Amino acid sequence: MNINLTPATEPVYTAVDILGLGECMIALDSPRALESMALMTCEAAGDVYNTMVAASSMGARCGFVSRLAKDPVGQMILEACAQENIDTSAVKLVKDGVNGLYLTLHQEVPGNHAFVYYRKDSAASRISPQEVIESQVKAAKVVYATGISMALSPSAEASVIRLFELAKKHNVLVAFDPNYRPALWAHRDEALSALLKVLPYVDILLPSLEDLIQLFGMKEPAHLLEFFRYKDVPLVALKNGAEGITLAKGRKICHVDAVPTRVVDTVGAGDAFNGAFLASMLQNTYSLEQCAQIGAAAASACVGAKGPTRGLPTWDQLSNAVGRVSV
Ligand SMILES: Nc1ncnc2c1ncn2[C@@H]1O[C@H](COP(=O)(O)OP(=O)(O)O)[C@@H](O)[C@H]1O
Ligand SMILES: [Mg+2]
Repeated sequence: MNINLTPATEPVYTAVDILGLGECMIALDSPRALESMALMTCEAAGDVYNTMVAASSMGARCGFVSRLAKDPVGQMILEACAQENIDTSAVKLVKDGVNGLYLTLHQEVPGNHAFVYYRKDSAASRISPQEVIESQVKAAKVVYATGISMALSPSAEASVIRLFELAKKHNVLVAFDPNYRPALWAHRDEALSALLKVLPYVDILLPSLEDLIQLFGMKEPAHLLEFFRYKDVPLVALKNGAEGITLAKGRKICHVDAVPTRVVDTVGAGDAFNGAFLASMLQNTYSLEQCAQIGAAAASACVGAKGPTRGLPTWDQLSNAVGRVSV
């Protein structure tokens, strides 16, 4: 006879490989300039969600820690997560608040875009540290959050810190992308101080060079990497658009080329890289350089398709990228 000892009131959280904390929104995307408003597409998106989708496409079990307002939009987002195999057992549905929304406005030149956010005081921004469940963190292999997760509100920032503290306590890897969005911060220094606050927890730092140049005012990748080495960050994957990725582990530095493609839409490229890089690291089969090559292949597929989560390859489709790598 099976006896379930879990009290009926205690929620059951699913064990996952990658546990991400952030906000999933509805994204409206104009095909070109704003005059094509009637042609806008609508989908679930958000940097942490995009990363989870990329990792999940490659077979990693992913889970989301967040809040959604309990309305038809929240329901659509939950369904999108279910379709992508992203666990939402730690997503709290709340009666008050709204779900976030953003617009991506593309310019004539592919790759040029602006974001307009409607997410202030959203349900997700009201997440609190108590919503980060220790048993779920303990069961994960990697926890993931970004500068955007921290920008949402002071309680969201505290929740990210709680996630990272618990991860450290249980020897779970901490991955972080600074993903600097000036529109989400009152001042650049706030974003910089948030990054410096989490840096001591971070095992895998996944910044884009463009973000770091804006945040630090330093242009030289070598100087930025030297700073992170001085701060004892064990591994940095520095993404630099079509120039590819620089990996830095201690004093060891190596460059990985981007995979050339026709640029359709660069939104989400960094997220796709992060998801595929983390998912391939979790396979314990590939060198870090190979993992970055797999990440670059996934990011290239993302750049070649519209939207941040479309065109993402499955593990089988990435076999070419792995095949090119000399073991
Ligand atoms: N034009 C491009 N062609 C091929 N790959 C690209 C291109 N732009 C970006 N990528 C890939 O996506 C990764 C992340 O892009 P990047 O622009 O550096 O980050 P983010 O999207 O966070 O701003 C790059 O390291 C590269 O592998
Ligand atoms: Mg980015």
